[in-house]
Amino acid sequence: MRLLLLLLLTALLPAQDAFLVKPYLQLGEAPRVLANERLDLLWHTEDRDAAWLVEVKGPRGWIAQAAPTWRRLEAPPLPAHRIYRATLRNLAPGAQVPYRVKRAGVVVFEAAAHARKPGAHRMIVFGDAANGSKEQGAIAKAVAAAAPDAVFIVGDLVYGRGRASEYRTRFFPAYNGEEVPLMRSVPFLGVPGNHDVPFKGLGDAAAYFAYWSQPLNGPALKAGDPGAAPAIPGLHDAVVAAAGPAFPRMASFSFDYGKVHWTVLDSNAYADWESPALRAWLEADLKAAQHATWRIVALHHPLFQSSRSHMDDQWMRPLSPVLEKYGVDLVLAGHVHNYQRTAPLRFKPAKAGPRGTPVPGTFTVDEAFDGKTVTRAKGIIHLVTGAGGAELYDPWQTDAKASWQPWTRTFISDRHSFTVLDVDGRTLKLRQLDAEGRELDRITMTK
Ligand SMILES: [Fe+2]
Repeated sequence: MRLLLLLLLTALLPAQDAFLVKPYLQLGEAPRVLANERLDLLWHTEDRDAAWLVEVKGPRGWIAQAAPTWRRLEAPPLPAHRIYRATLRNLAPGAQVPYRVKRAGVVVFEAAAHARKPGAHRMIVFGDAANGSKEQGAIAKAVAAAAPDAVFIVGDLVYGRGRASEYRTRFFPAYNGEEVPLMRSVPFLGVPGNHDVPFKGLGDAAAYFAYWSQPLNGPALKAGDPGAAPAIPGLHDAVVAAAGPAFPRMASFSFDYGKVHWTVLDSNAYADWESPALRAWLEADLKAAQHATWRIVALHHPLFQSSRSHMDDQWMRPLSPVLEKYGVDLVLAGHVHNYQRTAPLRFKPAKAGPRGTPVPGTFTVDEAFDGKTVTRAKGIIHLVTGAGGAELYDPWQTDAKASWQPWTRTFISDRHSFTVLDVDGRTLKLRQLDAEGRELDRITMTK
């Protein structure tokens, strides 16, 4: 019996020892839909040499992928560790492709990757997520049960300060653990919120830049440039080094999934989207996205919202006219910890800023759109979907309609929730679900 146990333990040891963080999928450097899809696979290990190999299952057996690369992150309190990265290539669009990871010739991990779909797909969106609460865990489970093809987190990815040490305990176990092994099979995308960027006194903050792998096609900002995430020299050096070219550039980017173009904006207070450099990138990106059937903008700070909390943080409003000009359909935000949906809106700002107050201006509200019988929106629908785990804001407003802005159509802050986007050709179905899978809101949009 003892011998049997010993043998069993020896067999399990390689797999248990191999990872500090098990392999997880990212879109990597693949902004556009491809004939041969690819995904990045990342994992974390102790700071020790080992022979790693990733294989993808093809029609005639396992195919070895190019050797993984790695960077070291040495930012206390975690011990120095390695972030490995490999690219899974030549994936059939939309296929579920088995892959495996070998260490020293032994298979230590197996899963199947969902390659990007060229057409109909389900994207799940939520924000303000990994604070280690039971509500975060319940939403994670419900998200997995809803079977997304990909997940987008609208910022405040990890609390309290997006630290490497917090990713280890609050993020990866929730979305890539044994209970919810989701991030190993579908790519997670995200945008940094105010809790995900460099922070004074915390050397392992801003781990977003080291741990995520997303397209580096945003504004060509270098460290120290106006509008770039401001890292403190001598404090954030380790994270910046481990991030390589991702810092600070990965804060904004764009990508396509199916026939949807996503423009992802860093809305943190240091990023002034009125500046010529950032504005030129945004216009060029939206102009080049006219091929897409749908255009979505995702960012952390909402342009329009009704919660008493963070009322003053609506500084991104002056972008509305340019988003309207290029036919953006939906703006998805977080920051405010609840769910809100507006009527289709057009907005003319009276002036840009100042920051710290909702930017004033004039609204044109599409009163006819109801998402049921009238489904063509004249204007942009703005969603706050920041109820992914962190403590909810202003639950009393759920039933206090008089406290909502006149263009807010739904406001739910008495429970945590997430957004399901089912996009099929010229129809987009949007649903808001709670942790029990109950439907809180639903609209259909058509073109
Ligand atoms: Fe936030």
